[in-house]
Amino acid sequence: MTALASAAFAFSANAQNHELTVDMKKNGAPIQETMYGLFIEDINYAADGGLYAELVKNRSFDFPYAFTGWKFAGNVEVRHDGPFDRNPNYVRLSSSGHGHKWTALANEGFFGIGVEKDKEYRFTFYARVPEGYKDARIRMELAIPVTNREGQDFLAHEMTVSGNEWKQYEVVVKSPLTEPKSELRIFLLGNNPVDLEHISLFPVDTWKGRKGGLRKDLMEALADMKPGCFRFPGGCIVEGTDLDTRYNWKNTLGPVENRPLNENRWHYTFRYRFFPDYFQTYGLGFYEYFLLSEEIGAEPLPVVNVGLSCQYQNYDEHAHVAVDNLDEYIQDALDLIEFANGDTATEYGKIRAQMGHPEPFNMKFLGIGNEQWGPEYVVRLEKFVERLRKEHPEIAIIGSSGPNSEGRDFDYLWPEMKRINVDLVDEHFYRPEKWFLSQGNRYDNYDRKGPKVFAGEYACHGADGRKWNHFNASLLEAAFMTNLERNADVVHMATYAPLFAHVDGWQWRPDLIWYDNLRSVRSCSYYVQQMYAHNTGTHVLKATENGIPLAGNEGQDGLFASAVWDANKKEVIIKVINVSDQSQEVKFVFTGLKKNQKYQLVDITTYHSDDLYADNTLDNPTAIVPQVKVAENAMLDVANVPAKTFAMYRFKVEGRK
Ligand code: AHR
Repeated sequence: MTALASAAFAFSANAQNHELTVDMKKNGAPIQETMYGLFIEDINYAADGGLYAELVKNRSFDFPYAFTGWKFAGNVEVRHDGPFDRNPNYVRLSSSGHGHKWTALANEGFFGIGVEKDKEYRFTFYARVPEGYKDARIRMELAIPVTNREGQDFLAHEMTVSGNEWKQYEVVVKSPLTEPKSELRIFLLGNNPVDLEHISLFPVDTWKGRKGGLRKDLMEALADMKPGCFRFPGGCIVEGTDLDTRYNWKNTLGPVENRPLNENRWHYTFRYRFFPDYFQTYGLGFYEYFLLSEEIGAEPLPVVNVGLSCQYQNYDEHAHVAVDNLDEYIQDALDLIEFANGDTATEYGKIRAQMGHPEPFNMKFLGIGNEQWGPEYVVRLEKFVERLRKEHPEIAIIGSSGPNSEGRDFDYLWPEMKRINVDLVDEHFYRPEKWFLSQGNRYDNYDRKGPKVFAGEYACHGADGRKWNHFNASLLEAAFMTNLERNADVVHMATYAPLFAHVDGWQWRPDLIWYDNLRSVRSCSYYVQQMYAHNTGTHVLKATENGIPLAGNEGQDGLFASAVWDANKKEVIIKVINVSDQSQEVKFVFTGLKKNQKYQLVDITTYHSDDLYADNTLDNPTAIVPQVKVAENAMLDVANVPAKTFAMYRFKVEGRK
């Protein structure tokens, strides 16, 4: 019997009548606006090759192998004294001296270069002609490398480069066809040589139409979530395999041309998913992360390195920053606050203004360290907390409870986090179905006086240990989330992880949103997150059966439930998840309503798939989406919750605050 089948069997009792009493007498704890958020890390080609809409890989020739992503013919030389000191490489294209031997470059993009019919693309590059020459000619092409067409190129534009000084050149071209895997080619025309640097191709139609901006469909998926917070930039990449390769936010400031390249640890972490051409250009850097947080209405939640390189990969104390040597790292955190919130007269506030955002970003939260553990973490975190409390008491500090949802590190770290008095503790759980089914009461008994919880990375990794997105995993996530909601006094934020994955370049799954070069699809887990994020409510309502919550316990027939009050819309929202394979009748009883407080059903949303292993796909992106049914009978008392279904009931209550 499969794990999935046994889980289903456990809840296959005959349909029972259940009664959920929602106490309307008074509101419970307020629910934080940050509650359901998003978390991004550049894993699975999430930033480069994903959200960052650049279509050229290794645009500056600064990858360790200068021609990664490029092929060339004829006379092409890499030179190292270019106009951008932190990305010094560029190429010189010279004539081969033979009229029939082309000098040319071709870039493969990220799993090809995707273009769409009638859409515009902005091709830019820096160029000059070497001393002794006045000008040179080049021809850019978009071509299909493998095709039955007579000519491989389907778009071409010729340009003249003039003068011995570096200048940026730009042309906007329109694609005559749709091709997900084209390549960019640059031919030298004539006999004069040319120097080329930072060769870039972006869709014109980016998020908010920004030049060099973000992929529109992916940003729309983020905005459509209406997330409460946005955690960035990771994840393990915060730590680095060694300290030199940690995510250094300061390297992501200023013009993109001069943001130095960093390796991406996900290119080599998994031998079975090996992507040696995966690097971080930082084109999507901290400024862009703050800006996009603002634009999607989410609280920005950056994470900085605590002076530890990845502890999975480094057992030796010398791989980390000595405890007495943390000043630079602590200063990075202080400077980050200045960058986000400081006056434009301050060093980093001024940089923010120069980048286009004189107003502060109003950052309120800061994560110190990612998945750290042991006394080596605690001793370093304390140093950060000491300085931050003194200089920025207004910033809420987030510590870590390690990589696991329970066990030795977790049990050691939680009391330490309380002692250090961080504001929130970041918990991570990538766990199988069994775990999600068993955690319906997880936060019920958490200490109400200690730090709050940030469930910073989680996802149900199920389907018999084969980890991929499927409906049942999302259903169990929904069930588990009733527990987050019910305990909103202690759980202040939760972010599913990872966020993005390119179908041709993933290292880790499941993920929230998948895409290829032209299309994207929101997974079943996405829709579960969205149902919660769009129906967060403002206050918890006590919802119980026989005095205890429905949390998938014995005798509860696989039912999980929570209820919230939305003071703005004057609505009660009840979420019921039935993980059993029988439909269940649940009678709603509203107690404590005053005489003048009348309720009526507004609508019922159900989320269900007959095939528990199915998910939305690029070819059928809306195969499994929530179905909203406007109420026919305004007085629904007994809900029939279908098997394997996430159901949500919204009632309007007049005359209640
Ligand atoms: O989300 C993928 C990885 O999982 C993150 O980088 C890390 O924090 C966790 O181990």
